[in-house]
Amino acid sequence: MLILGIETSCDETAAAVVRDGRQLLAGVVVSQVDAHREYGGVVPELASRKHIEAISVVIDQALNRAGIAPTDLEGIGVTRGPGLIGSLLVGIGAAKGMALALGLPICGVNHLHGHLFSVFLERSDIEYPFVGLVVSGGHTNLYVVRGPMEIDLIGKTRDDAAGEAFDKVAKLLGLGYPGGAAIEEHASGADAGGLKFPRALINDEDPAFSFSGLKTAVLRHVEERLGVSARGDIPGSFHSVVNAQTRAAFEPEIRRIARAFQDAVTDVLAVKGVRAARKFGCRQIVVTGGVAANRALRERITQEASGAGVEAAFPSFDLCTDNAAMIAARAETLLAQDCVDGLDFDAKSR
Ligand code: KG4
Ligand code: ZN
Repeated sequence: MLILGIETSCDETAAAVVRDGRQLLAGVVVSQVDAHREYGGVVPELASRKHIEAISVVIDQALNRAGIAPTDLEGIGVTRGPGLIGSLLVGIGAAKGMALALGLPICGVNHLHGHLFSVFLERSDIEYPFVGLVVSGGHTNLYVVRGPMEIDLIGKTRDDAAGEAFDKVAKLLGLGYPGGAAIEEHASGADAGGLKFPRALINDEDPAFSFSGLKTAVLRHVEERLGVSARGDIPGSFHSVVNAQTRAAFEPEIRRIARAFQDAVTDVLAVKGVRAARKFGCRQIVVTGGVAANRALRERITQEASGAGVEAAFPSFDLCTDNAAMIAARAETLLAQDCVDGLDFDAKSR
């Protein structure tokens, strides 16, 4: 089946054309990150407006690059949620309009299931059941995927998502937004020098995660070490302790903190992900979502997995972060099972 995928759940406007759920013909992603950077996070209202500006152009580009006409399409998949409600509605509106005009079957796709199915765009040797770990800015979810229609959520974070922790620590250290890649860059080649942050729930059999204590531990260390207060006026909030003037003086300590923080997150994800694979008799663990772009995480999980006789699989970087190819890939499996939605289906923000 030739499927158009559409993704607008957060701050990327994306469209892609995928054949048979496995062959990516063209994928276009327009990021709004520059528009949100000055606010230090995604501004929902701004995101919706940016999606409206971009959506038609992005869909046209995807079709053109794939070298197909809209009438060649055989189905449409669009992210139904979770995500920002206003953003989701832009993609869903565009998808429904095309489905109606072209008489195509349409289905709403769970964004997180999309992340899981991105692996099939590059690998033909992934077998059910596998453990799927989705680590993104909004989620840290562990699944056992027993089949296309049997996706069991077995664990998730009790508080902050892993990517959220990266972003908050980056903000604290003055590394900008979004912070994951900046933390990775600062941690790379750095030595934690004996600094060790807590690894919450790492020995707990319950496959749940918790990252808010880690964030607070980093905050306390930063305040003590740099002799500054990072607490904001609103309880629980904090601000960046490093600015352009103090940056150079604190650089070595920032690198050390970034490394120790990244080590803590990657340890927990690796140990708990691989433990779940063994517990549920899975030979493979698929790790995806924006945080899976982190090279140290990839190495740590690969190491932990190989010690347990499990294979770790990671989509390439562009398929780990939000994209529409994964939505089309997931839609293929749904449409193949006749999971077609009526044109009255709604966005599901949570
Ligand atoms: O999956 P994604 O693109 O969007 C969501 O659905 O959230 O993930 C974005 C998250 C952000 O928190 C970002 O800081 C994080 O992924 N991220 C990284 C890296 N690249 C992106 N975290 C750690 N290391 C990276 N290299
Ligand atoms: Zn995502």
